[in-house]
Amino acid sequence: MARKFFVGGNWKCNGTTEEVKKIVATLNDGQVPSADIVEVVVSPPYIFLPVVQSLLKPDFHVAAQNCWVKKGGAFTGEVSAEMLVNLGIPWVILGHSERRALLNESNEFVGDKVAYALSQGLKVIACVGETLEQRESGSTLEVVAAQTKAIADRVTSWENIVVAYEPVWAIGTGKVASPAQAQEVHNELRKWLHANVSPDVASTTRIIYGGSVSGANCKELAGNPDVDGFLVGGASLKPEFIDIIKAAEVEKKA
Ligand code: 13P
Repeated sequence: MARKFFVGGNWKCNGTTEEVKKIVATLNDGQVPSADIVEVVVSPPYIFLPVVQSLLKPDFHVAAQNCWVKKGGAFTGEVSAEMLVNLGIPWVILGHSERRALLNESNEFVGDKVAYALSQGLKVIACVGETLEQRESGSTLEVVAAQTKAIADRVTSWENIVVAYEPVWAIGTGKVASPAQAQEVHNELRKWLHANVSPDVASTTRIIYGGSVSGANCKELAGNPDVDGFLVGGASLKPEFIDIIKAAEVEKKA
């Protein structure tokens, strides 16, 4: 079954009102494949979600970069899934390595967040990925399988989940995974889903790659059969994000 190419732009903790308006204007003017070929979701900081959502052309959607693990209430500084739903925000990024590492978010905590967000009707971009140390010690597949299992153990449907494989060593470093490295992990993740969730979920779930994706390297990565799109950091703030969206039209290698 065909998986629609998915391109996410994670703006992280960047931008002023003026800057985000400029990025949105560039996106709205970009000549990109139609919404039946590519799904585009941009993720500004919480505070800019309403302005970005109001200005973005309707083909493109927005995602929050996080949300609270359960129903809102006395949790100072948090934003709940219910609030995102209330504002009509369709997507949320969960389990980003920057939060796993800096804020000690465990696999179980991320799994709980994914399950709660889905239960409230959000769609989730769930991030997994190994550190350089884990890759060098040969435990990449074990690490991403454990991260994926913590989600699989807690959810009943994968319909609204996109998995983002983001090797930590490739994030913000300019050291992109080679097309073969990306394809290998994506294929292993798909095999894991096949064996541990279901063949249907394995064949329909989009697995996107993140980590130093650029206008220059996106086409080669997109040619891999198991790379269903990208989660882009730095380059999503620049006009080259349009070129990355266009990678949806790259023909897959057999
Ligand atoms: P970069 O594209 O800046 O490496 O960031 C990737 C990322 O973390 C997207 O979530």
